[in-house]
Amino acid sequence: MTRRISILALLVPTMLAGCVGDTSKEPPIVPIRNMYNQPRYDSQSKAPFFEDGRTMRPQVEGTLPVEADPEIAHATGRTDDNTGWVLEIPAPIVERKGGMAALIERGQQRYGIYCAPCHGASGDGRGVVALRADAIGASAMLPPTFHDDRLRHIPDGQLFATISNGIRNMPAYRQSIPQDDRWAIVAYVRALQLSQSSRPDAASPNPQPGDEEGAQNDETEQEQ
Ligand code: HEC
Repeated sequence: MTRRISILALLVPTMLAGCVGDTSKEPPIVPIRNMYNQPRYDSQSKAPFFEDGRTMRPQVEGTLPVEADPEIAHATGRTDDNTGWVLEIPAPIVERKGGMAALIERGQQRYGIYCAPCHGASGDGRGVVALRADAIGASAMLPPTFHDDRLRHIPDGQLFATISNGIRNMPAYRQSIPQDDRWAIVAYVRALQLSQSSRPDAASPNPQPGDEEGAQNDETEQEQ
């Protein structure tokens, strides 16, 4: 009996504390207040900790915005008048990364880190993450192959923007991959696409000297 009364004695104040219909931003029961009321500064308030007494700190000297490149095309992959995509990797970026070969090499390394887990080392869309997603039936998460006609022909700027901003189920890499490295990855994806499209059964978007057609021309020239 006494046990029942003591339980009631505990329950009644708890029930009174939160009456039906009352609104409160606090959780109904807060036994340890110091986890709930944590010390913090409000914006515009005073902070004795800092010499100038300001809570809101000015930016550290030398702070750069995420996109520090003043060239719109370099930073967004859009043309300067914002009417379309940049068709090729901007030349100043290729130059400052040490030329196209160096850019592709850097891109290969970054691609291996950031893209291959989902898109696969060859860009066929069968990376370990994709295979796992497939195995558990999350087929909405599957990345496409880079070796279809549409992706082979999207402008370099659009590829850059896809990496920067993400697309549908793919996350954005603007924050985690520096701008010029994103262009390096574009260069490498292009190299991957060319490597696959030089198969004789696939038409190359950029016929190279030595391609079947070019070779035939050479022969005809020799015959003449
Ligand atoms: C976490 C997995 C994941 C990572 C990492 C990832 N992607 Fe994707 N990517 C996807 C998925 C999923 C899609 C398909 C998105 C959709 O259509 O919903 C996609 C789509 C794409 C497309 C096609 C866009 C289009 O126009 O349809 C390109 C190009 C692409 N990714 C490039 C990259 C590159 C380059 C990287 C490395 C910087 C990368 N992705 C990293 C998952 C990923």
